[in-house]
Amino acid sequence: MIHRSDRLHNVTYELRGPVYEKSKELERRGHTVTNLNIGNPAPFGFNAPAEVIQHMALNLGNAQGYSDHKGLLSAREAVKRYYEGIGLQGVQADDIFLGNGLSELIMHAVQALLNDGDEMLIPSPDYPLWTAAVSFSGGKPVHYICDEASGWFPDISDIRSKITLRTKAIVLINPNNPTGAVYSKELLQEIVDVAEEHNLIIFSDEIYDKILYDGTVHIPTATLTDAVLCITMSGLSKNYLAAGFRAGWMLLSGAKAKAADYIDGLNTLASLRVCSNVPAQYAIQVALEGTPSVRDLVLPTGRLGQQRAVCYDKLTAIPGISCVKPMGAFYMFPRIDAKKFAIHNDQQFVIDLLAAQHIFVVQGSGFNWHKPDHFRIVYLPPVEVLSQTVDKMALFLSTYKQAPKSSTEKDPVLSLSVQVLE
Ligand SMILES: Cc1ncc(COP(=O)(O)O)c(C=O)c1O
Repeated sequence: MIHRSDRLHNVTYELRGPVYEKSKELERRGHTVTNLNIGNPAPFGFNAPAEVIQHMALNLGNAQGYSDHKGLLSAREAVKRYYEGIGLQGVQADDIFLGNGLSELIMHAVQALLNDGDEMLIPSPDYPLWTAAVSFSGGKPVHYICDEASGWFPDISDIRSKITLRTKAIVLINPNNPTGAVYSKELLQEIVDVAEEHNLIIFSDEIYDKILYDGTVHIPTATLTDAVLCITMSGLSKNYLAAGFRAGWMLLSGAKAKAADYIDGLNTLASLRVCSNVPAQYAIQVALEGTPSVRDLVLPTGRLGQQRAVCYDKLTAIPGISCVKPMGAFYMFPRIDAKKFAIHNDQQFVIDLLAAQHIFVVQGSGFNWHKPDHFRIVYLPPVEVLSQTVDKMALFLSTYKQAPKSSTEKDPVLSLSVQVLE
């Protein structure tokens, strides 16, 4: 028998987990599944800006060789200018690393930092790669609660209560996946204050920072601190609808002098994988400097704006469903009345929905949420498809009651809540 390494034992990614396999099985059997499990704009008819595609194609001949391990200087200079433009002073191209999507850089940033048993504060709910990266690196993910009653803003007292001598860093996801929350300057300042008090590194995942609705303003965390190391993370996948290109970046600012050894570690990991894919690096400058990004799509009359409105209005009209309106990104994280529908296992709920209506959403516990009472829906499909899909969910829920737990059933939610409480 060949076994996975021990390091992988606590590592999961439910967006493509066991329910994903069931969805593929349905498709193999000839069914059409509405896949609302993953934030991948292209299959829903969104295109990366034409200028970006053209520029990449034109530069294919120039992209045959490896680049520097941190990435092409021209692309890093463009990232530098972008952050200077939104108020971050003193950025150097040398402080920027390009990656095969932000995902790769999240793995590098965490692996280079943690020793066994080191702790990192991660939001609950979270984008689960963060928890997975910490577990894979031998660290201990410690989840702080984002409070639905406060628009899913992080609970500062919960954050404070979970800091120990082993806490190395705090992760912010802003705009948030899965909740769509966009944090106020006051809240960010409070988190920065906590980080400064306890000398925590801040990882600020801002990959949706241009996908904002109703005039919402995004504040880059890095503009609020010089005193601690802040690593701002972003890329082209969402803001430029180019998830398949795999172009991401991270930018180090603040207390870099204290972090020289860690930065050396980041350089080592970047060098070990030689460089990120070079054709996509050519997309970065033209995206940041030559296109309007998603500017028109997020307007009330734009595609994303309309889809958000329809999805929100229809979902919240279903008896037993409530939802905080997302102000950014393209997800909703609705609450489902677990009592009304007798839900004790949220994975079973999404499997039942998939089986009955061929709609694939992800259970809240897949985002390290501690109760079986939420799911995440991606509102990328066109309005008509979304509208029909939510109608089908309403029909399903009009008669749904989850079957009682069998005595042999493993309870993933229960084991997760233990992990959250630890
Ligand atoms: C919050 C967040 N961070 C990071 C990523 C990774 O993005 P990518 O690897 O496509 O750049 C995603 C993807 O969905 C995300 O939602």
